[in-house]
Formats: sequence, structure tokens, C-alpha cells
Amino acid sequence: MAGQFSGTPIYILREGSERTAGRDAQRSNIMAAKAVAGAVRTTLGPKGMDKMLVDTMGDVVITNDGVTILKEIDIEHPAAKMMVEIAKTQDQEVGDGTTTAVVLAGELLKQSEALLEQQIHPTVIAAGYRAAADKALEILKGLAITVSAKDEDLLRKIAVTAMTGKGSQSARDELAVMAVEAVRSVVDEDGTVDTDNITVEKKVGGGITDSVLVSGVVIDKDRLHPSMPKSVSGARIALLNAAVEIEKTEVDAKIQITSPNQLQAFLDQEENMLKDMVDRISATGANVLFVQKGIDDLAQHFLAKAGIYTVRRVKKSDMEKLARATGGRVVTSIHEISKDDLGKAGLVEERKVSDEKMTFVEDCDNPKSVSIILRGGTEHVVDELDRAMEDALRVVGVAVQDKQLVAGGGAPEVELALRLRAYASTVGGREQLAIESFADAMEVIPKTLAENAGLDQIDTLVALRSAHEKGMKTAGLDMDTGKPVDMLKLGVVEPLRVKTQAISSATEAAVMILRIDDVIASKSGGPGGAGGMPGGMGGMGGEDFE
Ligand SMILES: Nc1ncnc2c1ncn2[C@@H]1O[C@H](COP(=O)(O)OP(=O)(O)O)[C@@H](O)[C@H]1O
Ligand SMILES: [Mg+2]
Repeated sequence: MAGQFSGTPIYILREGSERTAGRDAQRSNIMAAKAVAGAVRTTLGPKGMDKMLVDTMGDVVITNDGVTILKEIDIEHPAAKMMVEIAKTQDQEVGDGTTTAVVLAGELLKQSEALLEQQIHPTVIAAGYRAAADKALEILKGLAITVSAKDEDLLRKIAVTAMTGKGSQSARDELAVMAVEAVRSVVDEDGTVDTDNITVEKKVGGGITDSVLVSGVVIDKDRLHPSMPKSVSGARIALLNAAVEIEKTEVDAKIQITSPNQLQAFLDQEENMLKDMVDRISATGANVLFVQKGIDDLAQHFLAKAGIYTVRRVKKSDMEKLARATGGRVVTSIHEISKDDLGKAGLVEERKVSDEKMTFVEDCDNPKSVSIILRGGTEHVVDELDRAMEDALRVVGVAVQDKQLVAGGGAPEVELALRLRAYASTVGGREQLAIESFADAMEVIPKTLAENAGLDQIDTLVALRSAHEKGMKTAGLDMDTGKPVDMLKLGVVEPLRVKTQAISSATEAAVMILRIDDVIASKSGGPGGAGGMPGGMGGMGGEDFE
């Protein structure tokens, strides 16, 4: 290739750029991706271990949640970052199965190493993996069982399975009941579920059994004035996104006051204007007022006198939830407020939750927004309960929306491996080898579940395989005995989407990493470039600071 130029090196890259090509690039990428999978695999399943993560500020997070772990750790390698992306996608799409997706991707890559050693071209492996993934999705859909939004018992089992490994058994049962009730109350008419309408408030103190579901909204604020009523039943609620204050003039204005009478008149006028504002609100029949902005001291006094339970400086997101829950409308000007804008709630009440006063807006007719207050002994406990609840809400939401579920405990993976091997034999050629590797990769899930439970991987897998060969499609791993058991009977069930999404994104990532045969890394320029960007933080969060 170099021909007549041989001996004269040609530089096409800027000095300092790093380049790895061919097998070296593949090897390094696969190694990095496997390292990420290795970091989370010990957390998989009900017997998975927890990780303690300490950030640069010394803050500690204890979790066994795949995506949380990967978001917290600072990752440099580009291929490793792609693995983190799988977890994030999985989290966004279904909210559970993040570890599964990452472990699967790692195993697909591990299997591909053997294929590469046999001189099978990455393109052939990619094609085989893609074909296998398509087939896998088809098989999974055939295995799916229908769940109705009314089947509370089954939905609770989905919630409990999702919370696996987090909190105690009794805590999970408790949270599952709340999760199902919460999701069922926010389902829209068209069957869609937006779990953003479920607010989870964390409060340290008390025990998990003190956690409550409120059919309405809980605002982390107390009433404005002690002489306002502490509790209002039959609440008619005004929602105002405007200040209850006299507007200050934009320019510096001077008022010449020459006599004490004039001063009094001036003050009176201010008072009258505030009184008028309160009167307008009161005239609508409102007995509860939520204001997004500030309220003048004098206006507070008038509001108290009018017997209106008032909360000020309410977050925008809370105002939206209040509107949804009470059926009210957020009004932007006091002059526009009318009776029709008011929302309704059976009860608005200030209550103390572990030393902090909060406002409960509950007994709403058709609460399209509900709140859960999670309680637990320490901050770490509450945080992990919060993550468990988050998973539970998401999977129940997905199950209610999709109405399809599959067995857990490695059952679908073993069944997939079995059927994909049969499928591979119909394909033939080199692609067949890739499909067989894909089938083998599926078994990493039951194997890891067994490993994390201290069971023998080989024995358990052999037993599972033979159960599936006998037609027990839902046989999965009983964590205590290591024997194959019908997961439907055991109540270990997951939404179909958890599995389909995990397989899709794991395959996509593995294929993407496999197809890279050249890594050209530019030297980061500019001051402080070496530190790079904070790994794993890009792209997420930061959207809703309200
Ligand atoms: N009681 C159980 N018995 C057996 N397997 C279970 C049980 N509960 C959950 N699992 C399995 O554990 C796996 C999920 O583990 P988890 O640690 O939550 O990881 P992920 O982040 O992938 O959701 C799934 O394969 C699920 O079927
Ligand atoms: Mg899970």
C-alpha cells in the first residue's frame, strides 16, 4: 500500500492523538464493556449484594440498583460509557431490568470473543446477533401472559419482583400495595400511565410501616399563619401564580407627603388594595389558597381573618400536581380568578410528619395525582426504599399500560436459549454460530442469579434446562433450594417490556461495540482538558430544577 512512499511516514492525525486499530481496538473495547458488566453482576437478583459508592465529596450511596451504580461511578473508557448508556435507556423505557441489560450485553461480547478467535468476521457476528434478537423478541411475545389493570394481586407480584433485593420482605409487600394503588389511581382514560403524577416524598424517621399513600397531593410546606384554620374539610381551592403584594414601581418615584393625614391616607390606600385582593379571592368562595409567589404580611393577616388556609411559594411542579388532583386551574392574575377556576378536595390539613409540618390535600374526587410518603430509619434506608418504590411504580405502570407479563427468575432466558438453539440449526452457515452464542449468552441471567445466591451454577442450569425441555416454560430458579420451580406459582413476574427492552438494547450495544475496529482519540485540548467531563453524568437530569 505504501508503495513508492515506503519509508516516509505520513501523518494524518494531529500530534498527540491516540489510535488503536483492528483486533487491539476490539479487544480493548470488549474488555472495558465486560468490566462494566462485571461491576454490576454481583447485584443481580434477590440475593444480589449491595454496592457502597463514595463520591468525591464523600457522600455515600448504598444500592444494588444497576443504573444508580453506573450513574454514580466515573467512567472514562468510551466503550464502557456505551454500556452505561444501555442502563440509562433501560431505565428510561421501563425503569427496571438495568442490571439484566448490562449483564446481557457483557455476555454477548464475551461470547463474541470466542467467535472472533475463530476468525468469524464481526459483521457476520452482528448479523447473527441481530437475527437472534429478532427471533428472541418473537419468542418472548409468544410467552407473554395477559394481565388486567384490575388484577391487583398479580400487579403486586410484579411490584414485589421489581423491588427484589431492596428492603425487607415485609417492606416490599407494604410498598407493593401502595405502588399498585397509586398507579391504578393515575391511569388515564386511554389506559396510559404517567408515573410523574405520583409524587414520592422521603422523610427520615419512623419505620416503613409509617409510610402512607395519600389520594391527592402532599406539599412540603405548612400554613402561612397560625391563626389560619389548621384543617379545612370540603375544601374549595384557589391556585394562583401571582404575588399577593402591591407591585413596587419600576422607576424611583418620590411621593411628597406634607401632612400626617396624607400619610395615613397613603397607608390606607395600600391596605385597601391588599384587602381588595383578598376580597376578590374570598369572593370566589375559596377557603384554601396556594400561591406560587410571595404574599404581603398585611395580606396574610386579611387571609387569616377571612379563614383561608394559605400556602405560599409553592413549587411550579406542585402547582401542576394540585391542579391535576383537585381539578382546579392555575390562574396568573388575581383579577381573573373566578369560581370556575377552583379545585376541590375533601380535606386540606396541616399535619406533622417527623417534626416537619406538611400540607395534605386529600380525598379528591378523581385524583389524577397522588403522593406517597416514604418513611424509614435512616437516610440511606429511605433512599433505597425510594429507589425500590420508583422501580415498583414504573413496572406496575408499564404492566398496566402494556397488559403483558412474563415469568422471572431466569425462566424466559432459559426458554429463549433452548428455542434459539433450535432456530440456529435452521439457519446454518457462520451466522448459526453467532446465533448459538447468543443463545448461550441468555443463560448468563440464571447463572448469575444462582451464583449470587451461592448456588452451583452448573447444577442449577442443567436442572433448569431439563425442566424447559420437558415443556415447563415458566420454570425458573427457586433462590432458596436452587431447584426449578414454576415462577408464576411463586409469584415472580415481570412486565414483558423489561425483557424485550433489555434484549434489544443489549444487542444494539454489543453490535455497536463489535463493529468498531478503529479508535481514534483526539488529545483533549484546552486547560483542564485532562480531567475530561464527569463520566456518566452527561445527558440526564438537570431538566427540572423546579
Ligand atoms: N423471588 C425471586 N426469585 C427468583 N428470581 C427473582 C426473584 N425476584 C426477582 N428475580 C429475578 O431477578 C432479576 C432482576 O434482578 P435485579 O437485581 O432487580 O436486576 P435488574 O436491575 O435487572 O432489575 C430478574 O431476572 C428477576 O426475574
Ligand atoms: Mg430489578
